[in-house]
Amino acid sequence: MCGIVGFVGADASNRSVQVALQGLGRLEYRGYDSAGVATIGSDGTIHVVKKAGRLTNVVDALAKHPLPESSLAIGHTRWATHGGPTDQNAHPHLSFDGRVALVHNGIIENADELASELADRGIALASETDTETAVHHLALELAKDDDLLAAMCRLARKLRGSFTLVAIDRDNPNHLVAARRNSPLVVGLGEGENYVGSDVSAFVDETRDALELEQDTAVDVYSDHVVIVDFDGNPTQGHPFTVDWSVDAAVKDGYSTFMEKEIREEPTAVLETLRGRLGTDGKLRLDSSSISEDVFRRIDKIIVVACGTAAYAGYVAKYAIEHWCRIPVEVELAHEFRYRDPVVNEKTLVVAISQSGETMDTIMAIRHAREQGSKVLAIVNTHGSSIAREADAVLYTHAGPEIAVASTKAFVAQIAACYLLGLYLAELRGNKYVDEVADYLDELNKMPERIQKVLEQEPRITALAEELKDKDGFLFLGRHVGYPVALEAALKCKEVSYVHAEGYAAGELKHGPIALIEEGLPVFFIVPTPRRPELHAKVLSNVQEVRARGAHVIVIAEEGDDSVEEFAHQVFRVPLSTPTLMMPLVTVAPLQLFALRLAQAKGLDVDKPRNLAKSVTVE
Ligand code: G6P
Repeated sequence: MCGIVGFVGADASNRSVQVALQGLGRLEYRGYDSAGVATIGSDGTIHVVKKAGRLTNVVDALAKHPLPESSLAIGHTRWATHGGPTDQNAHPHLSFDGRVALVHNGIIENADELASELADRGIALASETDTETAVHHLALELAKDDDLLAAMCRLARKLRGSFTLVAIDRDNPNHLVAARRNSPLVVGLGEGENYVGSDVSAFVDETRDALELEQDTAVDVYSDHVVIVDFDGNPTQGHPFTVDWSVDAAVKDGYSTFMEKEIREEPTAVLETLRGRLGTDGKLRLDSSSISEDVFRRIDKIIVVACGTAAYAGYVAKYAIEHWCRIPVEVELAHEFRYRDPVVNEKTLVVAISQSGETMDTIMAIRHAREQGSKVLAIVNTHGSSIAREADAVLYTHAGPEIAVASTKAFVAQIAACYLLGLYLAELRGNKYVDEVADYLDELNKMPERIQKVLEQEPRITALAEELKDKDGFLFLGRHVGYPVALEAALKCKEVSYVHAEGYAAGELKHGPIALIEEGLPVFFIVPTPRRPELHAKVLSNVQEVRARGAHVIVIAEEGDDSVEEFAHQVFRVPLSTPTLMMPLVTVAPLQLFALRLAQAKGLDVDKPRNLAKSVTVE
C-alpha cells in the first residue's frame, strides 16, 4: 500500500510541489518507508527528488535544492512490496529516455515478463521494483503516438495485478494521466486546478469536490478539465461527491479510528498477500530466499517464533502446516525460545512472524536459531525491517502499514502467508500435487470476499458491545483452529477494552475455567463447522454446559448451523463451505470488531491503548 498525489495548475509556480508535499504528509499513513516528488521544469526536463525514509528526508532535500517552478507535480509515499526501501526503489521512477515519470500503488504481477521484454530491447532496470517495468513500457507506448492517455490505456491493458498509476510527460507539461485497477484513485476538482490522490486526504485541504473513478478507468487531468475513459479509450464518467469529513477523518478514510479502518481493510490485506504468488511455472514463490529447495526438503521440524498476535497466527500455522506437510510444528513465544536452550539444528526451519519486523524478542530468537545452524524464514509486513534483513528467506505480508497499536489486519495477512508457506512446502516436499495446491489456493482466493461478508454483521456486533459494556470478565472458547482465535479475541479485549478476558481451548473448559461460569458471564464460542461432526459435537456440548450454568452465550457459527440457536443468546455467522483450516480468517473478524466496539462503548482511546507500544524494540 502506498500513497499517491498529483497536481495540475494553470501556471508554473512553487505551489505544485507544496501541494504535493502537503498531500503526501496526509497520506503517510498509507506507507512511510520512502517518498519522492517529480515536476517538469521550464527547461523541458523532469526533475525527481526521492529518498528512503520518512517524507521529512524529501522535505529536507528540497529545502537545500528546491525543484524548479512547475505547473504540475506528482508525489508518492511508499510501503515497499517489490524491492527494499532505498533511494533507488523510491518513486517516482523515470523512463529510460527521460520522457516519463511515474508513481505506482499496487502489485504488477507480470513484472517479470515485462522486464524480460525490456531486456530484449536492451533496456536495463535501475531498481528492484515492479513499477519500473511499467514506466519503461509507458515510454515505449508513448513513443508510438505522443498521446499519454492512449499510451496509459495500452499499458494498463498489458498489466496484470493491481495498480494505481500516475504519470507525467516531459513534452506535454500541462497535464497528467492516471489509471486504476483494484487500487484506489480519486480526482479532486478545484478552481483552475485539479488533483488526483489515493484518497481524498491527498487534496482535502484544497477542495472538497471530488470524483470517484470506476474500476479499469484512466483519467487525463488538466488545470481546467478532466477526461475519463475506460482502458479501450471509450469515454466514461466519474461519480461526483463532496467530502464532508474532517482532515483527520479523511486520513482514516472516514472511520473514527485506525483500528476500525484496519479491520475493514482485512479483505484487501489477505487479497494483496495472496496476489502474485504463483510463478509462471505454476509454483508458489517466496519474496526472497537464500534457502535452497534441498534444505527445505530436508527439514524435519519447524519452530514458529513470535510474540503477541503474531504468535497466535503461528498457532494457526501449526494446524495447517502439520496437516499439509506432515512436519512437526512447534510454536514458541520468542522470548521463551531463546532462554530455554531449544533443540534446533540445521534440519530445523525457524519461522519468525512479525508485523513490524522490529520486535527485539523475535530478533534475538532468530539470532539464536541461526547460531545453532537453523535456517530462518521471516513472515514480515515491513520491508527492509531488521527481521527481514536477518532472515534467510522472507515471505512478506502485504497488509499495508498498521497504525493502531492492536494488530488486526496484520493478523489475517500473517495467517494467509502461513497458508502459503504450508502449501509451498507441501508442494516442494511432495506432500501435495500441484493441482491440489491450486485447489487450496482457489479456496484461499475466496477468503477476502468471505471476510467482507462477515464484516457486514457490524451493526449487531456494535449492539452487543453496547449491551455488554459493563461486564468486567469475558471468556472465549474454541477448538482446533478456533483455539488460537479464542486466544486472539481475548487478547484484543484486554488490549483495547482493559477488561479481564480469557481465551481457552474449549476442551479445557472442564479442567478449570468452568468454575468461572456464573450468571450473566459473557462466553463466546467459535463453533467448528458441522461438516466436522467430531469437533462440532464436542463444542456444542460445551455451549450447553455453560448455558446451563447461566452464562450469556455468544456463538460464531457457520451459516445454516441451526443446532446452536437453541443455546445461544446471539449468533454471528460465517460463510458456508469455508474450509476448516481457513476458518480463522473469517471467525476472528467479528471478535476484533467486538473488542473495538466494547472499547468505544467504554469511551477508551482505541488506537493508542494505555501502556502498550506498536513496536516493542526492547527485550
Ligand atoms: C506488541 C504489539 C502487538 C504485537 C506484538 C508483536 O506487543 O502491541 O500488537 O502483536 O508486539 O509485534 P510484531 O511487530 O512482532 O508483530
